[in-house]
Amino acid sequence: MRTAVIGCGYVGLTTGLTLAELGYDVVLVDTDKRKLSAVREGRSPFYEPGVDELLKKHFKAGTLRTMDDALEASRWAEIVFIAVGTPSREDGSMEDRYIREAARQIGRSLKSARGFRTVVVKSTVVPGTTIGTIRSALERASGKRAGKGFGLAMCPEFLREGSAMQDSLHPDRVVVGTLDDRSFETMSKLFSPLGSIILRTSPTAAEMIKYASNTFLATKISYVNEMSRLCEKLGVDVYDVMEGVGLDKRISPHFLRAGVGFGGSCFPKDVSALIHVAKGLDEPTPVMDSVMRTNDIQPRHLVDVLERMLGTLKKRKVTVLGLAFKPDTDDVRETRSLPVIKALIRRGAEVGGHDPKAALNFRTIAPDMTFFDDAATAIEWADAVVLMTEWNEYRSIDWGQHKYLKAIIDGRRTIDPSRLGRIKYWSMGSPLP
Ligand code: UDX
Repeated sequence: MRTAVIGCGYVGLTTGLTLAELGYDVVLVDTDKRKLSAVREGRSPFYEPGVDELLKKHFKAGTLRTMDDALEASRWAEIVFIAVGTPSREDGSMEDRYIREAARQIGRSLKSARGFRTVVVKSTVVPGTTIGTIRSALERASGKRAGKGFGLAMCPEFLREGSAMQDSLHPDRVVVGTLDDRSFETMSKLFSPLGSIILRTSPTAAEMIKYASNTFLATKISYVNEMSRLCEKLGVDVYDVMEGVGLDKRISPHFLRAGVGFGGSCFPKDVSALIHVAKGLDEPTPVMDSVMRTNDIQPRHLVDVLERMLGTLKKRKVTVLGLAFKPDTDDVRETRSLPVIKALIRRGAEVGGHDPKAALNFRTIAPDMTFFDDAATAIEWADAVVLMTEWNEYRSIDWGQHKYLKAIIDGRRTIDPSRLGRIKYWSMGSPLP
C-alpha cells in the first residue's frame, strides 16, 4: 500500500514509521526542507527513543522517502494522512490554517486521481472539523464528494512522548471515524497487523474520543493533586492513599502520581480547546475549568513550601533539575518548570537549571537564569534544589557530597530520602515539613 504523511512533527513521524514498520511504502512530507534532510540522515527533529534508529533502517531499506510537495505526494499515495500541527490561539481556540492548506493540496490531487483514495485525519482537531472544514476544503478542491469520490477517515493518535513508537505500534485501541464503509475497510486492512481492537465510529465521535480521553487523564492528575494537598495537611502520604484507591478496578492505579502537575503539547492545549468548544455551545464546564486551575496551583504551592523551608527566597540560589515536561523528551511545551522558575525569580531567588536533553529548547523561553551542563555542578552551586522532571540520571545523584545544599523539593517523587543525611527534604504529597 502506498501511503503519504503530511507533517513531520511528533504525530507525523511516528505515524510514518509505524506504517513503514507494518511494511507499507511511506512518503514523509514537510515544507521545511532542512527538517526533511535531517530526517533522511536519521536525525529526528525532536528527541524520542528509537526514532533515529527506525529512520535509518527504513531510509536504507527504501520503505521511507521524503517530499516537500504535498500535492505530488498525494498524487502518488493511495492513503494520505494529515498530521500537521493544530496549535492553540491566544483565546484557547484551535488554529486550523495548516490543516486547511493540507486538505486543499490533497483535494487538488484527488481531482485527477484514478482509483479510490482515502484521506485520513491524524492531527488532533476539535470535534466537527473533519466533516466541516476538512471535508469542505477537500470537496471544493477536488470537485468530488467525500464518501463517494474519495474516502475520508478520522483516526486520532494516543501516543505519549518518550514512548511514542511503543504506543503507536502497540495501541490499546485504534479508533476509526468514517462516513462510508469503503474508508473503514481500507483503514481496517491497513491497521489490522497491529492486532489491536479497531473501533468504528463517526468522524466527530473519533475527534471527541481524543479530547475526552485527554481531558479524563488530565482530570485524574488534577484530582490526585488536590487530594495531595489535603493529605499533606492531614499528615498522610498521598502515594499511600492512592495505592489503596487505585486497587479499585473501576479507578485503576494509572495516572495517579501526584506532583507539580501536567505539561506537554496535549493535556493543557486539549483541555483549553474543549473548554473553548463548550463556550461556543453555551455549555458550562466546571470540571474542566478546575482541572486547569488546580494545575496552576501546584507550581505556586511548591514555591510557597520552599520559601517556608528556606525562610526566604531572596538572594537564595535554587537549582531546577529537569526542564522538559517529562523525562525522555526534549519537549518543553507547557513544562511546569517554567511557572516554578518564574515564581522563584519573582520572589528574589537566583535560578540555575539543568536538563539532560531539553536545555537548548528551554533557553528559547527561559527567563533570566543560569544553565549548567552537568547536574553535579548545578547542585554544587545551589542552596536548594527543586526536582521537576524524573530523569533516570537524577535517581543516582550522590546527594551526600553536596555539603552546602540546605533543602530539596521533589516535585516528581524521584529521590530516595534515606540517602540525604542532614539536607531538608520534602516530596510533594507527603506531610508538610
Ligand atoms: C499525553 C497522553 O498520555 C497521550 O495519550 C496523548 O496522545 C498526548 O498526551 P504526553 O503528553 O506525551 O501524552 O505525556 P503523559 O505521559 O501522558 O504525561 C503528561 C503530563 O502529565 C506530564 O507532565 C506528566 O509528568 C504528567 N503526569 C502524568 C502526572 O503529573 N501524573 C501522572 O500520574 C501522569
